[in-house]
Amino acid sequence: MTTDRADRSLPLTSGDFWASDPMPDLAWARRYDPVHWDEAGQVWGVTRYDDVLEVSKHPELFSNAQGIRPDTGPTPMLIDMDNPDHAKRRKLVNRAFTPSQVRARAGRIATISDQLIDRVCERGECDFVWDLAAWLPLIVIGESLGSDEADYERLLEWSDALLSGLDGKPESVARMTEVFLEYEAYAKQVIDQRRREPTDDLMSVLVQAEVDGDRLDDAELLFDSLLILIGGDETTRHVISGGVYQLLNHGDQWEELGKDRSLLGSAVEEMLRWVSPIKNMARTATNGTVLGGKAIHPGEKLLLLYPSANRDEDHFVDPDAFDIHRQPNDHLAFGFGAHVCLGNSLARLEIVTFLDRLLTRLPDLALAVPAEPTRRAANFVSGYESMPVTFTPQSPVRSSD
Ligand code: HEM
Repeated sequence: MTTDRADRSLPLTSGDFWASDPMPDLAWARRYDPVHWDEAGQVWGVTRYDDVLEVSKHPELFSNAQGIRPDTGPTPMLIDMDNPDHAKRRKLVNRAFTPSQVRARAGRIATISDQLIDRVCERGECDFVWDLAAWLPLIVIGESLGSDEADYERLLEWSDALLSGLDGKPESVARMTEVFLEYEAYAKQVIDQRRREPTDDLMSVLVQAEVDGDRLDDAELLFDSLLILIGGDETTRHVISGGVYQLLNHGDQWEELGKDRSLLGSAVEEMLRWVSPIKNMARTATNGTVLGGKAIHPGEKLLLLYPSANRDEDHFVDPDAFDIHRQPNDHLAFGFGAHVCLGNSLARLEIVTFLDRLLTRLPDLALAVPAEPTRRAANFVSGYESMPVTFTPQSPVRSSD
């Protein structure tokens, strides 16, 4: 063991670490050992805001090309690439995420939100995660990828298995491989069809996208559509459920938001900062360097710990207080730099819209169980597994579209 590694070692790659409350341990690391060596995971944990930013700004020194997980290698996805290939590929995929394309979905997202609320509103109670929050991002992505409603259950299962497979456990990797083959056959059909008869969905845009005379080939379309499915589904779900938990737990903020929708934007930023559903992203040092006083050797992996950066007391005033008025709120929940989340405006639109419909339709929403719900034991994307809520039964609006 080298002398620059602390004697305490946080299990940063353990799902249980992220499922329990990791904040006290992360606060300890920020204070005493900000660039922290995890002996079990053989990876550096980067805990401070400024250091996460520094690493994100230097992709030439901290590469994505060895994969974004600490314990597995790269996939052929856009996120596992460095420049110049990354910039070119991102430009192609970005054709499906232009501001006007995202804006054009606002009405549809409001309709889906109303339809989801319609399904539960007469009951007076529901599981907020499984009846509401899980479905909005899944339907939005499912529609983008050209899936039929009948496929949504399958899509949810696939997205779950593919994400779980990234934990490197043999049983999850085996299931991921099976599911990958199913998704491959499914996506191939959709890709072929969109080539023949393009519509205005995201898959059609990806199939048609052209930069400098190049288009995405079948393998690239397959992997990047998968990245969009995995990247946009659970993440958005957890911000909706984890953020609404905080709002209901701070009832004055829920009520204030109900009366003043001009606060929706800052409330959503605070939900993102607070929940930070992506717990970490890995980078690999391309050269020897020093970060936070620690010698980093070429080939060593580092984890950018977004939930920790987003509670850094040197960056945020009173970081452990949930505050929908927080200004400024330059959180890192979407990452930073070359790989910053491509779906961030879509995710923000979904969360703002759903919250707005919820405040209008179920104004006295309340937690059925006051204790904080349990989180999923996962070392990459983690959030509440279930959250029972109650409300005064309401009539459906029977929105159609
Ligand atoms: C609240 C929801 C979301 C959160 C918190 C989130 C977070 C992130 C983070 C932390 C990264 C890596 C950034 C970095 O390494 O600097 C990322 C990348 C990415 N996200 Fe998201 N994301 C969300 C929703 C979405 C959605 C809805 C989509 C698409 C529909 C999406 C697509 C992507 C893609 C394609 C990348 C890779 C970009 C690249 O490598 O250039 N994400 N996201």
